[in-house]
Amino acid sequence: MLRLHYNENPHGVSDDLMKKALAAVRELPLQWYPDQELTQLKEVLGDYAEVNTDKLMIGNGSDDLIQLVLMSHLGKIQRVVIPVPTFGMYRVTAKILGLEVVEIPLTSDFELDVERIEQEVAEVPSAVFICWPNNPTGNYFADYNVEQVLETDARLVVIDEAYYEFGGRTKTHLTNSDSRVVVLRTLSKALGVAALRIGYLIAHSAKVDEMKKARQPYNLSLPSQKMAEVFVRHADEQLETVSDLLRGRKLMRRDISSIEGLTALPSEASFFLVKVNPDEFGLDAAGIYRQLHKRDIWVRYFDSLPDYLRISVGLPQDSSQLIEQLKKIRKEVLKG
Ligand SMILES: Cc1ncc(COP(=O)(O)O)c(C=O)c1O
Repeated sequence: MLRLHYNENPHGVSDDLMKKALAAVRELPLQWYPDQELTQLKEVLGDYAEVNTDKLMIGNGSDDLIQLVLMSHLGKIQRVVIPVPTFGMYRVTAKILGLEVVEIPLTSDFELDVERIEQEVAEVPSAVFICWPNNPTGNYFADYNVEQVLETDARLVVIDEAYYEFGGRTKTHLTNSDSRVVVLRTLSKALGVAALRIGYLIAHSAKVDEMKKARQPYNLSLPSQKMAEVFVRHADEQLETVSDLLRGRKLMRRDISSIEGLTALPSEASFFLVKVNPDEFGLDAAGIYRQLHKRDIWVRYFDSLPDYLRISVGLPQDSSQLIEQLKKIRKEVLKG
């Protein structure tokens, strides 16, 4: 199976780092409940993210934090405004919690439609989700547009920086002065430990205090905490793999775009969109998705983006395999 559908870091962690992480969990006192405040992991994450520990909350993946942020605002917001296409868990979680979801399509150049967002949040108390850079389009929305969203009546603005390390830009500074802003981060992408399930958020300390009330006291097992401390302390090593992936992204986009009918779009994240021209390729995006699937190559197709596929950046050999198969598929289709 070739996994190019979940935007994981295919490098994983080195044997040496894994040894260090295993050493950190070998003699844990599992009979005791762990520290509710997650003090040590917060200190390590605070250093990494360059924020005070009182601005941090840690969750079982950022999926968990999306739920926690919304849960802690029940009664204060009624509506969740989501610029789409974007990461699906915002909608799923808001719906589960009984919140009204309003999806606002991005403009044709994948920008925020600030005017519509402004209208929607003015009607009832609302939260807005901004995925930055956006999954699946791969772009950062313009700073100006993000600032405009902060000028609206939105009661809560969640900025999801899951792919922060790939583009290097952040909005965490906004949390110093605006207590409506919550920034989400994860160890699942650049740091290569999606299975460990660690996400964290950065917000004004007053906001963190408010949201803590909705947190399960032991939402992260002690082994997860201790392993995460090792991975974050050695983040430099993982960031080298990010540099490899960024080089890989450039080559993968170039090679895919060299196939007639396919154009790989620019991206600031660990994936990119590929636009399919069915007249030139001989198949539409859904057809290519099915053909790749048959060959056990997993990419993403979204009904909401029928002309595109989303492809995660893989290792060089993954990229070669994908490109070889794409060329074969095209040849077969044109022959048949
Ligand atoms: C934008 C975005 N946010 C959050 C997540 C989930 O991250 P986690 O593994 O921390 O739950 C993903 C995973 O694909 C994502 O793309």
